Amino acid sequence: MPGACEIARPRMLASWLDRAYGRPMGTGNVVGLRSTAVRSSVALHAAMAVSGLIMVLFLLAHMYGNLKIFEGRQAFDGYSGYLREAGEPLLPRTGALWIVRVVLLISVLVHIYAAFTLWHRSRSATAGKGGWRYETTKNRRGVQRSYASFTMRWGGVVVGLFVIYHLLHLSADYIAPGGASPSPYQRVVNGFSIWWVVLSYMIALIALGFHLRHGVWSAFASLGTNSSVARRRVLNLVATFVALLILVGFLIPPLVIFAGWVR
Ligand code: HEM
Repeated sequence: MPGACEIARPRMLASWLDRAYGRPMGTGNVVGLRSTAVRSSVALHAAMAVSGLIMVLFLLAHMYGNLKIFEGRQAFDGYSGYLREAGEPLLPRTGALWIVRVVLLISVLVHIYAAFTLWHRSRSATAGKGGWRYETTKNRRGVQRSYASFTMRWGGVVVGLFVIYHLLHLSADYIAPGGASPSPYQRVVNGFSIWWVVLSYMIALIALGFHLRHGVWSAFASLGTNSSVARRRVLNLVATFVALLILVGFLIPPLVIFAGWVR
């Protein structure tokens, strides 16, 4: 005679599979199946990967632009002006910049929606305990917190809050520690001459580095590259390289300004 657990387990598994991958063929109409496929966990992982990689491309370009701080005020402010004029006369002034902003905003929203939905599904499928975790008496929820869940969830929240603070600081000039200025170069120099501004950026950038180390790995794995031991090794190297490059590249301007090498 099978116990209650043995009967319940296959049913739970079937309902989890239904939720994760949609109902099996033949149990719904084509439109229903298509919309279920779009909302399936596989599609959500792919959406998270693509939106994340778009943001990584933006970060690489932004990091490169920031390093123009070494070329002086004229070059840095000229680059900022160029971003607004790019695409003219085909596009109106700031047209190209707005296209990039809209693509970024859509990527952020898709990323957050997919992350939240996958987290919610995982919690409901495991009675609030998350994926495969070891039990512990040290944590309120009775299971160990995984490295990935910590850096992805809390790292993501820290980076999200940082972006709001950063836009109010260096883009909108609304928060202006060290003094407001119409010159982006001067805003950066004024801000990073203050220790707590440098420290707050360092904390956010380290959180971003951890988020990227796991995120880049996870994005390429979701897109099917984690298919052999050799490929996994390359994947680990690529993820570490991208995260370190972005972390160090973004840390350089605040640190050199604070050290007084750029004024
Ligand atoms: C120390 C590192 C950083 C520096 C020095 C920096 C500098 C700047 C500056 C000067 C602007 C204003 C550009 C202008 O008005 O022409 C800006 C805008 C922006 N930054 Fe950063 N940034 C840094 C890190 C980051 C990071 C890590 C992110 C994302 C996670 C980010 C995202 C953005 C965004 C989304 C904008 C607005 C672009 C726009 O729509 O105009 N920045 N940044």
